[in-house]
Amino acid sequence: MAKKLWGGRFRKKIDPDFDKFSASFRWDHRLSGYDLAIDAAHAKALKKCGVLTSSEAKKILAAVASLQKKAAAGTLKLDKSSEDVHSAIQAELKKIAGPAADKIHTGRSRNDLVSQSSRLYVKDHLVRIARLLTVLQKEIVAKAAQSEKVLLPGMTHLQPAQVLSQAHIFLSYVEMLERDRLLAGGALKLADLCVLGSGALAGTTYALDQKLIARELGLSAITRNSYDVAGDRDFVAAALYVTWSIGTHLSRIAEDLMIGQTRGFMTVDMDQAFCTGSSMMPQKKNADFTELVRGAAGVFAGNFTGMAVTLKGLPTSYNRDLQWDKKYLFESVETAEEILTIFIRLMKTLRINAPAAEKFLKDESLYATDLADYLVGRGVPFGTAHEQVGKIVSFSEEKGIAISKIGLDLLKQFAPKLEADVYDLFTPEHSVRMKKTSGSTHPAEIAKQINFWKHKLK
Ligand code: ARG
Repeated sequence: MAKKLWGGRFRKKIDPDFDKFSASFRWDHRLSGYDLAIDAAHAKALKKCGVLTSSEAKKILAAVASLQKKAAAGTLKLDKSSEDVHSAIQAELKKIAGPAADKIHTGRSRNDLVSQSSRLYVKDHLVRIARLLTVLQKEIVAKAAQSEKVLLPGMTHLQPAQVLSQAHIFLSYVEMLERDRLLAGGALKLADLCVLGSGALAGTTYALDQKLIARELGLSAITRNSYDVAGDRDFVAAALYVTWSIGTHLSRIAEDLMIGQTRGFMTVDMDQAFCTGSSMMPQKKNADFTELVRGAAGVFAGNFTGMAVTLKGLPTSYNRDLQWDKKYLFESVETAEEILTIFIRLMKTLRINAPAAEKFLKDESLYATDLADYLVGRGVPFGTAHEQVGKIVSFSEEKGIAISKIGLDLLKQFAPKLEADVYDLFTPEHSVRMKKTSGSTHPAEIAKQINFWKHKLK
């Protein structure tokens, strides 16, 4: 059992099962690099306020540097029986720096240490996630540029609705991911704070230069309230919300791609590299990656919810409940990064099947709204036009004749204002060109969106 940082007042040994249960090392070993950076910054501040002599500070900084070197080489071995990463690092420092290392924990508590190292982790990883989102957005914009001219039925309620450009669908994904980037930026701001100097809750009696520590750690501000930061995990909840949002968006995109790849559609084709086969049915090519992505939305939602419920009802300041944040945070962040990395390659290699898309445009019910709008143009109130076109659609379905094959005399019986030029409506190109609003599926609007993103994501 590793030495505790708090043994003095205890006469009994900790229950061994409780000791194991209470340890967070299994999760927070990932924070070792951040703890070391904090140790270096803290040592400088301790030297500045006279707690460490120059030679003690030098020893500690050298020990930190040697552990950082090992960490970079992947050879840093920490005592797995430690209560947490903070205790483990301190024990390692002592092995190298000797008694000087006993002074590093002056004027700080694990309460501010854990808050600080988690903030650094969240900050770093949100930057990474935002970068991955940008790369994914760029890949999707590239796909949009390749598929501007591919027209297909857009759906609502999973039913054919109106003609859309495939690029328009891709660009809607870019919008979702842009919202995620915004959220990531907001969550990052919550994490970007120097909390050292707070001690366990009340601040410390040492004149620590907190601005120096903030500068050393690349943080933008120092805390205004030591009691608040000890128990503040809003930045963790926010990061988990970000991963929830990304996970939910990727699940949506994944679902669209899987529907597009079913035999019924085949409008898109995911590369084999992201599919797996069946151990029994030799013909199968299953979209397992996108299924796992869709499923992972549950992991992200669960972890966010877990954190939210852990925070509910907690009094202000540090309580050990907060340690569960690690169980949620690391899994969600690491899974999000893993998925985004693969999703980028899935998008890069995605094929669009234009001929398959074209087949679906034979369904002339896709032009029903255009037909109603045509009647409005000839003075018919929209409600009446809707009713008249509904009857035409129903007639065409019942008789099994395409609307464009119904003679004008017969069409006029349903909608007296129709004229011979109505037959021009039944092409997908005409349909998209009729759209006039900003953000619509009109080819010029699509081109505008593609341009906008190419510029913005540069
Ligand atoms: N391992 C703890 C956590 O992750 C930090 C330790 C604080 N423990 C304490 N008894 N104050 O939250």
